[in-house]
Amino acid sequence: MKKVLFVCLGNICRSPSAEAVMNAKINEKKLEHEISTDSAGIMGWHAGEPADQRMQKHAEKRGYNLTSLSRQFDPTVDFEKFDYIIGMDHENMRDLRAMDPEGKYANKIYLMTGFNKNIPADVVPDPYYGGAAGFENVLDILDDACDGLLQEITHNEE
Ligand code: 4NP
Repeated sequence: MKKVLFVCLGNICRSPSAEAVMNAKINEKKLEHEISTDSAGIMGWHAGEPADQRMQKHAEKRGYNLTSLSRQFDPTVDFEKFDYIIGMDHENMRDLRAMDPEGKYANKIYLMTGFNKNIPADVVPDPYYGGAAGFENVLDILDDACDGLLQEITHNEE
């Protein structure tokens, strides 16, 4: 079983969406017994809350149900537990690496857009303070990155 953890700042917009998009692709390919997913935030501001209403609305239009509740990344557990710890932007990457000062888990920390195949995005931009287009952009990038991530994981399992 490969365990994937998606990480963004608040765990109410980008990473719960990444989790839902990835789960849809996992289910489609019947890989539920090979890959599991979770998501977390660098910050615990929204811990226990469901995903942002705007993000939920845009995700639902594409058939994704955002069901996870926000939680904060826990370096004492999550670095050991997960095989892929995937940040959405450079700040997330910096913050994750800062919690692993010796670089013990450096080979598990990935930037989401590093898996993109078609959309040449540098990061998954934070949509929180923007408009509708930002939420659509997040879903477009995540769809592409999750295809690449699924390929990466399944190839490494062979
Ligand atoms: P996320 O978006 O990191 O994609 O979940 C944000 C959610 C909340 C805040 C910032 C970004 N916030 O400032 O509360």
